[in-house]
Amino acid sequence: MELRIDLTRRRGGTSAARAAAARPPASPMVSYASVLAAAQRIRGSIYRTPVLTSELVDLASGVQCHFKAEHLQRTGSFKMRGASNAVLSLPSAQAKHGFVAHSAGNHGAALAAAAQGRGVPCTIVVPSDTPAAKVQNITRHGAAVVLCEPTQQARVQTAEAEAARMGGAHIVPPYDDPAVIAGQGTIAIELLEELPQLDAILVPVSGGGMLAGIAVAARALKPSVRVIAVEPEGKGLGRAMAEGVRVRDEAQANRLLPTIADAIRTVALGPRCWELARAHVDPSVLSVSDEMLRAALRVSLLEMKQAVEPAGAIALAALLSPAWSRLAAQAEAQGAPLRSVAAISCGGNADIGQLARYCAEGHG
Ligand SMILES: Cc1ncc(COP(=O)(O)O)c(C=O)c1O
Repeated sequence: MELRIDLTRRRGGTSAARAAAARPPASPMVSYASVLAAAQRIRGSIYRTPVLTSELVDLASGVQCHFKAEHLQRTGSFKMRGASNAVLSLPSAQAKHGFVAHSAGNHGAALAAAAQGRGVPCTIVVPSDTPAAKVQNITRHGAAVVLCEPTQQARVQTAEAEAARMGGAHIVPPYDDPAVIAGQGTIAIELLEELPQLDAILVPVSGGGMLAGIAVAARALKPSVRVIAVEPEGKGLGRAMAEGVRVRDEAQANRLLPTIADAIRTVALGPRCWELARAHVDPSVLSVSDEMLRAALRVSLLEMKQAVEPAGAIALAALLSPAWSRLAAQAEAQGAPLRSVAAISCGGNADIGQLARYCAEGHG
């Protein structure tokens, strides 16, 4: 994203050039057919995760809630779906050179495991200040880790250098990539197969790969399902969608959100995810504060017996919020009640000390 903006400036920074740079590069868009193909491709590489319920959460939210337990997915997050699809989509002649990503988080671990599954090399570029536990979560899946300066530019440049050094390895972006988006969309296929009665799906959002993929698949399978984004407070996706402006300015694009949900701090959606979200995602966006996240982490651990990372509790937090009650009441008044809702419990790679602290602090 940042690179795209730099290129625009070098070209002179006219508004036309900026608009062209903001458009996704010409490459296949994500269709339901590509999500379906992804589901078949990755079937042997991922778990079909269970759907969990809680009487207490149903009572508190006023709806039947179904939690898609992607924190129990291989490598601890839904990222295994997109990474597996990206790795398995590539023909052998290209895949043999291996894969590269710059991500200290869930995408890095997932790509490592997916490449290991295909028996090809993988290098993950991580900032030098990455905690040892996160580095271990990558190396245990057989990937090499290369440290770089903790800047976006250094991450991108180091990844490109590594890919070249490996003889032409394929760089897999964390969200704004057709194969990754299609892989994440397979969550919706599983959900709607199992729960055809769903009225809405609540999807945590950062760069928007999961949101875009789920929205494409849900729209095709059941057009009446509302796909509702759940964001950390301050992201402003609802306003961005209402105004049709993906990135307000460069400073906004480079900022990270100050949320305890460390996996979802990206402010702007990727250009491709943005286009898909605008076409298929509900205009209502639910925003969640850190206080609500702490309370939800506590409910998740103590009531649902599920240890999730903060991002993994954000959809639960949204369901327990007054904003949800208002949205549900509005839907009821409009004659399209939300009775059955799915929420993606997207990740479980929590730091044990932090999780204990957040749960202890989380009342409400
Ligand atoms: C646990 C978890 N949840 C949600 C997200 C958001 O995914 P996306 O960037 O596709 O919006 C991420 C992204 O890294 C994540 O790791």
